[in-house]
Amino acid sequence: MTDIISVIAPINMAVIKYWGKRDEKLIIPLNDSVSGTLDPKVMCAKTSVCARPVFEEDELWLNGKKESFTSERLQNCLKKIRELANEQKSVDEEFLKFKVHICSENNFPTAAGLASSAAGYACLVTALAKLYKVKTDISALARIGSGSACRSVYGGFVRWYAGSNPDGSDSIAKPVVDSSHWPDMRVLVLVIADTKKHTSSTKGMKTTVETSELMKHRIQVSVPSRIEKICEAIVKKDFPTFAELTMKDSNEFHAVCLSAFPPCIYLTNTSLKIIEMVHYYNNICGSIKVAYTFDAGPNACLYLLEEEVPKILSVIKYFFPFSSENFIKGLKAPPIKEFPIESHIY
Ligand code: ADP
Ligand code: DP6
Ligand code: CO
Repeated sequence: MTDIISVIAPINMAVIKYWGKRDEKLIIPLNDSVSGTLDPKVMCAKTSVCARPVFEEDELWLNGKKESFTSERLQNCLKKIRELANEQKSVDEEFLKFKVHICSENNFPTAAGLASSAAGYACLVTALAKLYKVKTDISALARIGSGSACRSVYGGFVRWYAGSNPDGSDSIAKPVVDSSHWPDMRVLVLVIADTKKHTSSTKGMKTTVETSELMKHRIQVSVPSRIEKICEAIVKKDFPTFAELTMKDSNEFHAVCLSAFPPCIYLTNTSLKIIEMVHYYNNICGSIKVAYTFDAGPNACLYLLEEEVPKILSVIKYFFPFSSENFIKGLKAPPIKEFPIESHIY
């Protein structure tokens, strides 16, 4: 068969977090954010799409289970791509009437704070854009599926600009540096819990925006003061500055979550122990060698340079002697390669 398009896409791990929207429907954020895109050979979403005359409905399978197709985001993505295909006359009218089947799998825990929505939607829209042969900014399409997905479209370090246009047309991701810029940068992903989070990122950020007093300070003061500095640190390969800003932003993000009402608590005791361990390690080193960051979940991502990897692994084994081998994933996962999205046509 030649009508199935398969694509793989990577996760990205934010070092300045996106948390809060100024437009819920268009998914326009309150603040700029910055992330590193991981090697998709280690952690990725894989999505296959196919449109045929015999299909009766648009359908989606996620990790082998049929999902309801009622998600507004999913429908918006598909609708937008079909509209573009119609405008661009990229496929014939008959093809546009066919229903589509989408099958996606993540090779890492879904909805556990490891950016599955980012890899998932970057993959989904890329696959559909190929199926319908549309030419468009994939990053903007990915954003309407899940905000963080717009950053997974590029490799290296990526900045998502909040923008100021009401229609979101300037709310786009752009590379800060490509993956060749900092080749010895590594990310260790410590999987503490692979279960679905109690509060989705979408819901958690909405509650935070509506109820947290601290959030105003984050949006107006903290993030603007960090964003240029971290981009500069990345460009200069200044690891201590990069690492300090990364940890401070993660800590503030979780403090802001705790200040929502009801509070969104994503970190667990093990997450807190990892934070302690990293500070202990940096202290005995006499300078910052490792940075932790946590998305909306308990699982830790450690940014570090390659030479530190064996050393921190032995420290992790000392602090967490009973953790399974699975605890440490993503070893040697550099933020990233040149083309983070790969496609295969079967
Ligand atoms: P995470 O921290 O993993 O990004 P979120 O709460 O942001 O968690 O989003 C999880 C949701 O993203 C899932 O419940 C599902 O709706 C969607 N998602 C995750 N992976 C995929 C995928 N591969 N394809 C399509 N949608 C996905
Ligand atoms: C903590 O992109 O998952 O991972 O736009 O509602 O789908 P929606 O949310 P999502 O939020 C990600 C939040 C975060 C931080 C980040 O990735 O910047
Ligand atoms: Co997400």
